[in-house]
Amino acid sequence: MIFIDDISSDNIYNILSSKAVHRACRKEGMYMRFTIEHLVKHFEKKEVLRDIDFTFESGKIYGLLGRNGAGKTTLFNCLNKDMKADGGNFYLEEGGQKRETVPDDIGYVLSAPTVPEFLTGREFLKFFIDIHEDKIEESKNLDAYFDYMSIAPEDRDKLLKDYSHGMKNKMQMLVNIIAKPNLLLLDEPLTSLDVVVAEEMKQILRSLKENRIIIVSTHIMDLALDLCDEIVLLNHGVLDKVDKTDMDSHEFKEKILAVLRDERPID
Ligand SMILES: Nc1ncnc2c1ncn2[C@@H]1O[C@H](COP(=O)(O)OP(=O)(O)O)[C@@H](O)[C@H]1O
Ligand SMILES: [Mg+2]
Repeated sequence: MIFIDDISSDNIYNILSSKAVHRACRKEGMYMRFTIEHLVKHFEKKEVLRDIDFTFESGKIYGLLGRNGAGKTTLFNCLNKDMKADGGNFYLEEGGQKRETVPDDIGYVLSAPTVPEFLTGREFLKFFIDIHEDKIEESKNLDAYFDYMSIAPEDRDKLLKDYSHGMKNKMQMLVNIIAKPNLLLLDEPLTSLDVVVAEEMKQILRSLKENRIIIVSTHIMDLALDLCDEIVLLNHGVLDKVDKTDMDSHEFKEKILAVLRDERPID
């Protein structure tokens, strides 16, 4: 999937707006919004996404919190256009201009890491840097990327098949952030990582949020509360923001639990 997306990276956005403009926007930190309007998806008779209507803003990490089976992965698959929605639409807005998303806008880190096992970490990384050469502003050497992800020097030339789950996850994350996507979708990214790697990943995500929109799906409330600037609940096929104002963390958790437990959607 990664490969197909990247082959088509000679995309409409590059044709319509020059890379120079794109970079200038980035440097100024142009405010960006991502809006989903009335998105619907069902499988046979099962209505998973009923009416997703929400606007995300750049500079924030959103925690997409929902129970198992709520439709988090389905929503991401629709946004990444791996799956066709049955209705509704979504678009990016930069400098007041609305436009459709193109593959280069989106980095999608899957919950189960998928890496080509027959390559070494270094070969895999080099491949991605080569195909995104035109989008990487300051080129770092490969080891600087590995340093950034805390992948030890002795692991960098090992085959990916010998990487641990956490290391594969880091590689997947790394190749998804190299091209600096506007929208970073992470599906349950930290759930199965050990505490040290999870903490490193959180730091990395925080360092990436400026000038982009990060949406992290999780079914773990404490993770969402710890990492995210906003909490968005996916419940009964709709998305709702939980307002944190004037609430201590206990009250806030209770409110989230009440919504997720209950049959009623949030007010
Ligand atoms: N390709 C599919 N075909 C049929 N049903 C699916 C498919 N993908 C997901 N579902 C169903 O949609 C619901 C939401 O699944 P999913 O998006 O994986 O939830 P989550 O990621 O929140 O745990 C589940 O009931 C699941 O069985
Ligand atoms: Mg899922």
